[in-house]
Amino acid sequence: PSSLRLGIAGLGTVGRGLVRIIEDMADLLSARAGRRIVIRAVSARTRKRDRGIDLSPYAWCDNPVDLAALDDVDAVVELIGGGDGPALALARETLGRGKAFVTANKALIAAHGATLAALAEKNGAPLRFEAAVAGGIPVIKALREGLAGNRVGGLYGILNGTCNYILTRMEEEGLAFDDVLADAQRLGYAEADPTFDIDGIDTAHKTAILAALAFGCAPDMDAVPCEGIRSIAPVDIDYASELGYRIKLLGIARKTAKGLETRVYPAMVPLASPLAQVGGALNAVVIAADPVGQTVYEGFGAGEGPTASAVAADIIDIARGLGGPPLGVPAARLETPVSIPREAHEGR
Ligand code: HSE
Repeated sequence: PSSLRLGIAGLGTVGRGLVRIIEDMADLLSARAGRRIVIRAVSARTRKRDRGIDLSPYAWCDNPVDLAALDDVDAVVELIGGGDGPALALARETLGRGKAFVTANKALIAAHGATLAALAEKNGAPLRFEAAVAGGIPVIKALREGLAGNRVGGLYGILNGTCNYILTRMEEEGLAFDDVLADAQRLGYAEADPTFDIDGIDTAHKTAILAALAFGCAPDMDAVPCEGIRSIAPVDIDYASELGYRIKLLGIARKTAKGLETRVYPAMVPLASPLAQVGGALNAVVIAADPVGQTVYEGFGAGEGPTASAVAADIIDIARGLGGPPLGVPAARLETPVSIPREAHEGR
């Protein structure tokens, strides 16, 4: 069979990781996919930066949107980030041409997931976003495929590696917030704008996407009341620990009698519970479903290798010809979430 030819937009931490996986694991990937997976073209803000990878074999596009039009590109991988702008333009252009689109962009899917899924379905183009939620943990696949024979009752999780890393080191080393944030940035966990991490927006994006897959509704950021960890001081962490708790930033989504409840807040998690043991940049998601019961997923939710490996899995799916509606049910059947206003949320 012919090879699957990729155009990659964005060569930051995740883009570099993906190039490394495709080059270093070429034989394994092609064995799994049943055909070669090759990079044909790349695009990034600047060509010159030293990324530790050799870009000379690939065509270069100054404008990422141009990748979609290249005749020798079958699938576009978007690793630029941002809910609008070039990422959205590239998604529309790629799917509009009936080509496959893979993204790690949670802001994009949280804001435009339903319309992009509709466009993908209309044009018979695969749309995949495993890396958008919890990095290397296959939680999108869990909801869309592994748990497809279940009704999901609710889910909650630690979905932001940066915040978990900060909270963990504040507790373990008594460090102040700002000191640890700089380390999280250096390690490649934090967003380009770290306020997205710290103020819970990144977790809200991911919660909206998980809720959409779990409950068959359109992703809706506005339905996710959101509080981050900016105001957590070492003293809060000390008090929590004296009382037998650890503070974790959680995203939750569950069906209640009043409607779908989604929100993001720093929660007191009992030390004995499994989520309390999830430290550093790890993420974890707990899903309650019927009839399977509770399933738990844990692993690295941020960083080069984990996130790039999730992108690679999507690319292999596409090379294998796996289809299905991007959000689990056809876009036309997605419900509008009946969300609960902040003041009506049940007590913490
Ligand atoms: N900034 C994100 C995090 C990256 O810290 O979890 C993965 O989405």
